[in-house]
Amino acid sequence: NLEDYDVSPKTGFLPEEIPLNHLPPYYETWERIVKNLPALLLTRRVRSMVDKLPYLTCEHLTSESEYRRAYSVLGYIAHAYIWGVNETTDRLPKQIADAWIKVSAHLELPPIATYAGLVLWNWEKIIPEEDDATLEDFLNNLKVINTFTGSLDECWFYLVSIYFEYKGASVITTGMDAIKYARQDKPDKVRDCVQALAEHIDYLGTVLMSMQEMCDPHVFYFELRPYLAGWKNMQDVGLKGVYYGDLQEPKLYSGGSNAQSSLIQTLDLLLNINHYSTGESSSNSSENAFMNEMKKYMPGKHAKFLNHLAKVNIIRDYVTSRALSHPDLLLSYNAAVAMMKTFRDKHIQIVTRYIVLQAQKSQNLGSEGAKTIRAGLAKGRAPQKSMQLKGTGGTALLPFLKQCRDETGSTAAGNW
Ligand code: HEM
Ligand code: ALA
Repeated sequence: NLEDYDVSPKTGFLPEEIPLNHLPPYYETWERIVKNLPALLLTRRVRSMVDKLPYLTCEHLTSESEYRRAYSVLGYIAHAYIWGVNETTDRLPKQIADAWIKVSAHLELPPIATYAGLVLWNWEKIIPEEDDATLEDFLNNLKVINTFTGSLDECWFYLVSIYFEYKGASVITTGMDAIKYARQDKPDKVRDCVQALAEHIDYLGTVLMSMQEMCDPHVFYFELRPYLAGWKNMQDVGLKGVYYGDLQEPKLYSGGSNAQSSLIQTLDLLLNINHYSTGESSSNSSENAFMNEMKKYMPGKHAKFLNHLAKVNIIRDYVTSRALSHPDLLLSYNAAVAMMKTFRDKHIQIVTRYIVLQAQKSQNLGSEGAKTIRAGLAKGRAPQKSMQLKGTGGTALLPFLKQCRDETGSTAAGNW
């Protein structure tokens, strides 16, 4: 039952209920900071404001929606605190750290800004009373609640992912149907479902490329991306983890990344696309540590859904077993895998434009030149060196993504 995993046939991994845009009055001091985050970041005042926050407990959070809102708010505040003043710090004050740890534990998430806090639970309706007849109406009535920069580019960056998740809801229902029909040994039905999956994946690629309509690569790279970074693999900028309040040991967590989307991992599972650790191949079959690790950065129930899916999925075995008698089944399966490969090709194009080329640009100009490109950089926030070579999730960027793509390609039938 999908509901047991907090997965909706209508909204997929997004909550069916519209996320809260405000916490109860007790938490007003948090809300005030997060609402003014772009201004506090511009004036570099965010850390001193957070240092003055009162110590609040989680006892006044009474519903799942409130916990989710608190998780999202604390993620924005904490990342702004660490990265938002020229001199990076490795200490989160108790008044933020303690509550963040509690709220995260409740949601089975790590205390770091994740896809859940930045995307899944960070939207509301523009006009709440509007009755959105179709999915398109609904999507056109969405807006982002919080941002670091206050820019449309940042809003669009999240909105594309929100659209992506909405559009992807049918992937889940179609995939579950395919498994059901495979169990019932109905090859034509399985073929129709897998063909529908191929079309959905193709469409998801189009949604991904729409990033370029409203999110400028320069703004993304220089103004937003520095705040998305986590505190793992950040030694190059002198950050060896973050001390949360009175905890004696520093914590290392990956930053926010779409690799934390449960939807893509659902597709990989449905099609049996396996990923291996970087530099290794299927012959040395250790699973990709990063992809596995990212499950810990998904809401607990979503991660459990993926574990469940891994157990019940029989699509590829079914396709192979019927390949000779039903070549069309094999064809549609291979088409779906090819679409996933195309999706990952498109993603690599995006990463090249949004990260690799921007990093080169800043190097060519030298740090002084990069600083003066935009007034927004007047205070010298060119991304740190290590960020140019690594994803916000901490991977080696292109080598990692190319391997993911190649593993997708080699899943097609004939290569098994
Ligand atoms: C992984 C960048 C948008 C889906 C990654 C990684 C990077 C990256 C660098 C490697 C993991 C890490 O270290 O963080 C970008 C950039 C984007 C963007 C610059 C836009 C400006 C998206 C969108 C989606 C997406 C909209 C779809 C929801 C994924 C997935 C992975 C990933 C699924 C895991 C690797 C894989 O499954 O192939 N992204 N991403 N990305 N991204 Fe994106
Ligand atoms: N994961 C994306 C990046 O590395 C957001 O920039």
